[in-house]
Amino acid sequence: MIQPFVNAPADGIAIRARGIRKIYTGAGGKAPKQALDDVDLDIPVGAVFGLLGPNGAGKSTFINIMAGTVIKSAGSIGIWGTDIDDNPRQARANIGIVPQELNIDAYFTPRQQLEFQAGLFGVRPAERRSDEILEMVGLSDQAHSYARRLSGGMRRRLLVAKAMVHSPPILVLDEPTAGVDVALRQRLWDNIRALNEAGVTIVLTTHYLEEAEALCDRIAILNHGRLITNQPKAQLMAGARAKELRMTLAGGPPAQMPAALAALGAQAVEGGVLVRYDPAKTGAAEIITIMAAAGLEIGDVTTVEPDLEDVFLEMTGGMA
Ligand SMILES: Nc1ncnc2c1ncn2[C@@H]1O[C@H](COP(=O)(O)OP(=O)(O)O)[C@@H](O)[C@H]1O
Ligand SMILES: [Mg+2]
Repeated sequence: MIQPFVNAPADGIAIRARGIRKIYTGAGGKAPKQALDDVDLDIPVGAVFGLLGPNGAGKSTFINIMAGTVIKSAGSIGIWGTDIDDNPRQARANIGIVPQELNIDAYFTPRQQLEFQAGLFGVRPAERRSDEILEMVGLSDQAHSYARRLSGGMRRRLLVAKAMVHSPPILVLDEPTAGVDVALRQRLWDNIRALNEAGVTIVLTTHYLEEAEALCDRIAILNHGRLITNQPKAQLMAGARAKELRMTLAGGPPAQMPAALAALGAQAVEGGVLVRYDPAKTGAAEIITIMAAAGLEIGDVTTVEPDLEDVFLEMTGGMA
């Protein structure tokens, strides 16, 4: 088993980013590009944290700054209590990063790659956990196969395994299931959940909204390099948009909206009435009772619940 992390930062913050800015200087006469603009972000210890945003929002830039492969233009980041500028070596030891690209070495076996990666991180042979990690990501049967024989989903799991060799308390996955089929996606989700249950703080970027909805307990959204929200998932979904109740009426929309319905903000629409309501305050049954009391004869009733996609579209202006 993964060890529980006893040295967690006292403030409960696994990653603390302040004022992060990144400007890619335009090479070859291209205009400079601001990829991140003053991002402040706290990621709590133990979270499964989702960083969402449309393509080009700056997600990979943020992750690559943490990985040390992109140099930030301004700001500071602490990783498990270590500032990446003060002590880059320790900061790198505190985090495992699964990059977006499937860059694996085709000519070595998964087991060889894990041993090599452990060596890079200075993990002594006696402390290596290659077989245990391969088992965890479901690659025991492929431990000694050449990596070029692995399917896309297996390669992704090998990258997760490589990120875990030094037992980091934080695992970051950049678009972990992009291009992975549904069955393998489920398997990866199971791996991620199991790691989190073992105490690993998880950060993932995704543009699959159902992935964030299924896995994450806290969600931040980046758009054009700016952080536009950062909330517990439940709060984000609940505060997003009211439910909608749409009722067709035998007599069409009422000429005069009954006062009790008008008070709920009901609108006349083609063929009937639409009510947007806050499910914390009003129930659909109550609305239907008011309709009946006003003598309106209801035909069809449809309800629409907001999902993460609605929230996302609303906040990013339609760029899912
Ligand atoms: N090496 C680079 N040089 C110049 N611009 C870049 C570079 N990498 C990313 N960008 C630009 O920065 C923005 C953010 O990119 P990225 O962080 O990859 O977004 P995401 O991962 O959210 O899709 C995009 O406009 C992208 O074109
Ligand atoms: Mg990306």
